[in-house]
Amino acid sequence: MPSDRPIGVFDSGVGGLTVLKELRKQLPGESTVYLGDEARMPYGEREAAEVVLFTRQAIRWLAANADPKLVVVACNTATAVALEVVREESGVPIIGVVRPGAAAALSATSRRAIGVLATRLTVRSGAYYRALRDLDPLVDVLQQPCPTLVPLIEAGKARSEEARAAVRQYMAPLLSEGAVVAPGVDTVLLGCTHYPLMRWAIEEIAGPSVRVVDSATTTTLAVREVLASHGALSRASSAEHRVFATGERERPRAVARAMFEEDVEVEEATLS
Ligand code: DGL
Repeated sequence: MPSDRPIGVFDSGVGGLTVLKELRKQLPGESTVYLGDEARMPYGEREAAEVVLFTRQAIRWLAANADPKLVVVACNTATAVALEVVREESGVPIIGVVRPGAAAALSATSRRAIGVLATRLTVRSGAYYRALRDLDPLVDVLQQPCPTLVPLIEAGKARSEEARAAVRQYMAPLLSEGAVVAPGVDTVLLGCTHYPLMRWAIEEIAGPSVRVVDSATTTTLAVREVLASHGALSRASSAEHRVFATGERERPRAVARAMFEEDVEVEEATLS
């Protein structure tokens, strides 16, 4: 595995930027190429077969245009339904976000009661339930699909009253009174890489006794470990970062600019 090639990062839209941010922070010598499939998001409302096809196209695009040493599928939905298939077909090593997310939630939980907020397709796939139960067969897992959150975030409304109301509605079945598990979950896992952009509302509604975790840190650790064990960590002192999107480029540019506190050029990509 050559050390001087970039890391590819893929998501349906801007969500994977939350993982990219952590990668850039923890691995400052690594160059990155980000691809958001804005034209076809949200993936969470699609059929699994479509998401497999789109993920395959994205990996091929990254392989052809960025020659990455490793690709992070920074989308829970794509990881949940496509990772195994594309990993088998692709010559590029691929890391997903579900297993790292499950590991983060299990290290945070004290009462072994975890709520997972995710897209409809991720919940339907059962990927988080399996990943969590694989690591701890006794853990309680409550999954909650949140179909309106990704469209709100992509529309630039992550900090709106509408966002707060949607989060309140989705969180109710996980927290004390309404919860199937008494007295509710002690940890909420953000099982969609878009949701850290609404962490403010999720933490506010969860309250101080509930921990809110995401997969960005543990995914970055997994990337570091794989690169290190193959002698492929970059030795460069500076790095280059490129962001590509299909379809809409202004909205991802605004989100990226706010997140990285610098102007980010979003280049055009076409997937087929
Ligand atoms: N960021 C994707 C995820 O982690 C969002 C999926 C979507 O486009 O619905 O699941």
